[in-house]
Amino acid sequence: MNVIYVHRWSELSPMELRARSIEPKEVAEEFSILEVRSLKALEGLAGYHKVAEIISVRGERPELWLDDKAKWTVSFYGEVENPEKIYSELKEWVNESSYKARPVPHRFRWMDGREVSKLIAKGGTEFIVAGLGGRVYLGRTVMVFDYESFKKRDMLRPYHDPKVNIPSRLARALLNLLSARAGERLLDPFCGMGTILQEGAMMGLRPYGLDISKKMVKYARANSAWLAREEGVEDFGARIKVGDARELTRYFREESMDLVATEPVLLPYIKGLPSRRRAMRLLKDVKEVYEAAIEEIVKVLRPGGRLGIVLPGLKTNDGGIATLEVREAYGLEPLWKTVKVEGDAVLRLINTFRKPA
Ligand SMILES: C[S@@+](CC[C@H](N)C(=O)[O-])C[C@H]1O[C@@H](n2cnc3c(N)ncnc32)[C@H](O)[C@@H]1O
Repeated sequence: MNVIYVHRWSELSPMELRARSIEPKEVAEEFSILEVRSLKALEGLAGYHKVAEIISVRGERPELWLDDKAKWTVSFYGEVENPEKIYSELKEWVNESSYKARPVPHRFRWMDGREVSKLIAKGGTEFIVAGLGGRVYLGRTVMVFDYESFKKRDMLRPYHDPKVNIPSRLARALLNLLSARAGERLLDPFCGMGTILQEGAMMGLRPYGLDISKKMVKYARANSAWLAREEGVEDFGARIKVGDARELTRYFREESMDLVATEPVLLPYIKGLPSRRRAMRLLKDVKEVYEAAIEEIVKVLRPGGRLGIVLPGLKTNDGGIATLEVREAYGLEPLWKTVKVEGDAVLRLINTFRKPA
């Protein structure tokens, strides 16, 4: 089937598909066009809002049927000329092929995914119109991102703090970029409250954690026990240790891990944009920890193992970005190109590597 895959992140989303060996046929800022055998191929991905099965390319009249009195709506993505005309045409087609179906308006160019989920659950339909390079695809939404289950893992676990934790959705994308497979051993040496480890457990990985703070380890263990109760996954709390990531090989054997995924020390929150000099000074303070930890991470990875590391970026008042660089001198090969993901206050740079086999 051919689908419109509506992106969550313009750069990261297509990359996550490629890491799963799905090569998009076309890539736009807001969506990709893909061919997949079934929707199962897209399960567990983090980088989409919606997936719509393509029912026509502009010009062709699609086969349509909607339930009697069903509600329907339409969302637009990409470069679509004259959306009003497309809307009226669609309305005409729907009216001719269904009994009393009613359009539901919304305030933006597109309806929010959460709203779409509710609409579909009640037997409604969302159409998606996606325009790219003069072509206009018409699709019918068949899959919506499971916002609720990710939100639950972020917000309903015993310990959480959005200022410190990586969002679980981004943690999932990071693990997907590493092509993590069930049964693989995953280590987060700066595990904090255990968000990345939690996502690993949801994917059937075997999580291991380390954090320098006793309090964080206590929190991560409580979160692990909660997840085990809620989701029926393994409680990995006993595999989280207190320790310094700069001495990782004191706690974990060399070449014992298939995957390391981590977001180490965050920078202090600063109001406004710093000068480049100030930004570099802040980064210098954390550089030593990063460098020493990465050297140790390389040792605990098995040959062929993969590392996903989120580095902090700071936007500076000269319009640039100051960041740390992970040099290839550590003997690692880059896996995917570095991608930027902007949060409310932080800029994250997602770096992925492979240890040569
Ligand atoms: C940004 S938080 C980690 C968030 C976490 N990856 C998650 O999944 O939510 C950074 C953590 O690194 C820990 N940390 C700082 N320096 C460390 C070190 N040298 N070794 C191990 N952990 C350290 C802090 O205690 C903090 O919990």
